[in-house]
Amino acid sequence: MSANTQQGRDIFPRDRQPTVRILAMPAHTNPNGNIFGGWIMAQMDIAGGVVAMEYAGGRVATVAVTSIEFHKPVFVGDLVSCFTRIQKVGSTSITVKVEVFVQRARDGKLLADQVTEAVIVYVAVNDDGSPRKLPERGPDFQQYW
Ligand SMILES: CC(C)(COP(=O)(O)OP(=O)(O)OC[C@H]1O[C@@H](n2cnc3c(N)ncnc32)[C@H](O)[C@@H]1OP(=O)(O)O)[C@@H](O)C(=O)NCCC(=O)NCCS
Repeated sequence: MSANTQQGRDIFPRDRQPTVRILAMPAHTNPNGNIFGGWIMAQMDIAGGVVAMEYAGGRVATVAVTSIEFHKPVFVGDLVSCFTRIQKVGSTSITVKVEVFVQRARDGKLLADQVTEAVIVYVAVNDDGSPRKLPERGPDFQQYW
């Protein structure tokens, strides 16, 4: 449990909407009984893919996970929220920072903690899977940054 949760402060980001929210279920556990890291990575890839697809206005493919850090374990029953921000846009690629927070029910309260973060690169692709130039985007897409 982080210092922030021990002090009872709510660190859950209230000024942003999560891109993906899901409850961690018993089916997602590893042999230790905690939530399997591969399942968390899949949720992060989905969240990053959602914003990349919207920005690209079409299909995208994950080309690289340039960094990932698992700061804290995730437990069954945790409410998992993936927050995304576009970090960089190239000619065909979109780099997305994904931050994962959990909310955990304890004694009638929801305690928040940041558990994982990653930087994932997506490439806009044509129907044949080849890289596609990204469209120009205006202020409507500012919210993704
Ligand atoms: C994604 C894919 C179409 C890119 O094709 P490619 O021929 O490698 O494309 P390019 O070399 O022209 O690179 C395309 C963009 O990706 C970026 N890129 C490629 N490899 C990268 C890497 N390892 N890290 C970061 N960016 C990378 C390039 O810099 C380029 O960005 P830009 O156009 O914005 O400058 C191809 O690699 C592919 O199909 N990969 C498999 C995708 C997939 O199946 N993903 C799911 C995995 S389970």
